[in-house]
Amino acid sequence: MTRPSGPVAVLGLGTMGTGLATRLLDQGMAVRVWNRTPERTEPLARAGAIAVAHPADAVEGTSAAICTVADGEALRTVLHGPRGILAGGAYPGHLVCAGTVAPEEIVRLAENTHSVLDVGMLGNREHARTGELRLFVGGDEPVFTLGRPLLELLGKEVVHLGELGSGMRMKLILNLLMGIEVQALAEAVELAGATKLDRKLVLSTIAGSGFASPVMAFKSKRLAAGRFDKPDFRLRLMAKDLQLAADQAAAGGLRLPLAAAAAETHGRATELGHGDEDCVAVTHALTPTPGTQT
Ligand SMILES: NC(=O)c1ccc[n+]([C@@H]2O[C@H](COP(=O)([O-])OP(=O)(O)OC[C@H]3O[C@@H](n4cnc5c(N)ncnc54)[C@H](OP(=O)(O)O)[C@@H]3O)[C@@H](O)[C@H]2O)c1
Repeated sequence: MTRPSGPVAVLGLGTMGTGLATRLLDQGMAVRVWNRTPERTEPLARAGAIAVAHPADAVEGTSAAICTVADGEALRTVLHGPRGILAGGAYPGHLVCAGTVAPEEIVRLAENTHSVLDVGMLGNREHARTGELRLFVGGDEPVFTLGRPLLELLGKEVVHLGELGSGMRMKLILNLLMGIEVQALAEAVELAGATKLDRKLVLSTIAGSGFASPVMAFKSKRLAAGRFDKPDFRLRLMAKDLQLAADQAAAGGLRLPLAAAAAETHGRATELGHGDEDCVAVTHALTPTPGTQT
């Protein structure tokens, strides 16, 4: 396999960015890192990455830059903000946008930049750390061909779907399913509680049944334990993706009732203050808010 030709920058060191940067270091790559909260660069700096203060510094001398920040606003800041990657003109390397944002936003943000790929990441922090993500890529064919060696270091499956924005479209479809399934599981367990059944028994029965998807079986353990901390995937990010999926549906003239309901419920759970918990915390939007019962 051909290796990427030079140092790689990773911008945004949350759950996924930290995993990706760790993977690149493990593969012997030179890695430069930036994060809005600088303390989060420290473990990677100890592992050999060069930590810098601004996005523009992170991409200096690199052949590729991977952005794994939370949302469209964060990506705008990283690309076009003061001391952003593109503040001083076009970036000569490959720009890989791997955080999930609106497909149209990727196209807009990447205007005047010749070498951009959008990458929907399927997998979790452990998959990112071990190079076992499944990556769904949008962008021009020649750009994809040049960027592929880097992506193959990060994922066990790398699929080129077509034009810029396609990676995001695929990711939104996948998270639409995940959000609906996790909400369905949460609804089932809240109904179990309300009808005086043993929640844990109901959860283990669902997990062992043909009605559960793998993600439901996995998340049932968190619901059984009532464990919402140390998120694998933050509720606010799921709410963002469900809203983006609902927007895509509306723009396409579709009426998708499950998408609309899941977006609304996840949005409400975020407003109730659960945004930084794991996405199974959507269950809090299904129970009466204290003080609202008559
Ligand atoms: N977790 C998953 O399983 C998973 C899988 C596939 C795709 N994704 C997508 O990948 C992206 C990152 O997910 P994650 O789970 O790694 O999220 P996370 O742990 O919440 O980390 C979010 C990152 O974005 C940065 N950020 C947030 N707002 C910012 C702003 N306004 N300006 C600059 N930086 C900002 C945060 O910086 P601070 O440290 O300063 O807060 C942090 O580095 C999201 O779009 C998510 O939907 C996640």
